[in-house]
Amino acid sequence: MARIIEAPLLNGEGCAPRGSAVGAFGKLNAAAARGLVYDDAVKAETDALYERVRHVVPEFEWPAFAPLIAAINRLKREKNAVILAHNYMTAEIFHCVGDFRGDSLQLAREAAKTDAAVIVQAGVHFMAETSKILAPEKTVLIPDLRAGCSLAASITGADVRLIKQRYPGVPVVTYVNTSAEVKAESDVTCTSSNAVQVVEWAAKEWGVDRVILIPDEYLARNVATMTSVKIIAWKGRCEVHERFSAEDIAELRAAHPGVVILAHPECPQDVLAAADYAGSTAALAAYVQEKSPRKVVLLTECSMSDNVAASAPATDFVKPCNLCPHMKRISLEAIHDALVTMEHAVEVEESVRLRAKQAIDRMLALPKTERPLDFEVGRREVAVEII
Ligand code: 13P
Ligand code: SF4
Repeated sequence: MARIIEAPLLNGEGCAPRGSAVGAFGKLNAAAARGLVYDDAVKAETDALYERVRHVVPEFEWPAFAPLIAAINRLKREKNAVILAHNYMTAEIFHCVGDFRGDSLQLAREAAKTDAAVIVQAGVHFMAETSKILAPEKTVLIPDLRAGCSLAASITGADVRLIKQRYPGVPVVTYVNTSAEVKAESDVTCTSSNAVQVVEWAAKEWGVDRVILIPDEYLARNVATMTSVKIIAWKGRCEVHERFSAEDIAELRAAHPGVVILAHPECPQDVLAAADYAGSTAALAAYVQEKSPRKVVLLTECSMSDNVAASAPATDFVKPCNLCPHMKRISLEAIHDALVTMEHAVEVEESVRLRAKQAIDRMLALPKTERPLDFEVGRREVAVEII
């Protein structure tokens, strides 16, 4: 079984320790408050699911999780609902109630093709909006309206309109981590699984040698090292990934000789320069599956390691914990309540939806690559223009 080694750094808030009696009682109370108990029927229904999270959920905690998990899975059947679970969900959500799991791009593709009547987005608000844009006839629920994103909050539709006035004729490529209103002002969206492909397509399609890539400054800088297209960027940051530094990597290598360091491209360039591999959350998971490193660090949101570890028994995960406070708003209780009350339904005004959909559709229409983009590591910095 994979081992999870908690690293005593880095700059984040730190995780609630697994196996703490306080945490377990909290969940038990949450289940009891909803009239849910751990009985023989729940045990029989959930025993097989426990095997998927045994590596991170201690046995004594399972009776606290299992009643909520059984109830959610029953509610899904009753309401013809599916749960789209992002890679940053906690392991009990990701492995025990998620129907489709993956990175932003994979979840958007699932939203566009599911037959279910209801989509519960176990992720953040911009992901739920993307689902609603692609599947307007479905009810899309976000279990906690506070599940935002610092990148999405860094830019508005009005900002994009001003940018377009300043750079007429230059295509606007927008990271999916943005509001529907921002997508509606954009020419095409991208994710970290396809950013270089989209940037190069946009430059060719518009017949220009530069594109605007917003709002993540670090993603833009990391893309700039891999293409001859000139990049104009915005100063948005992911509050989770901006905390990692090259010094953290040096400390991790010193403490764990031979460790393989993987980073998400929302990290600063000096982190990618010092890492062994970089890519979207799907690319990081694929790297571990394919290469089975003996010991690995995932420089990204904390729960990723727990989720990837389930199918990587030969790998030990050193886990420096940087939590995304927005992703962590989504709990089993919140998902359960969303399915009972059918709240909070995400709505996107139709004229905004249609324009945002065009930008997303252009991205989805590009040839599907066999695997998500590998970002280059160890590269020098390339100049980008900051708006
Ligand atoms: P991915 O598209 O790699 O899943 O990233 C989404 C995200 O929010 C990363 O912080
Ligand atoms: Fe946004 Fe960063 Fe959280 Fe991803 S990890 S949802 S980019 S704040």
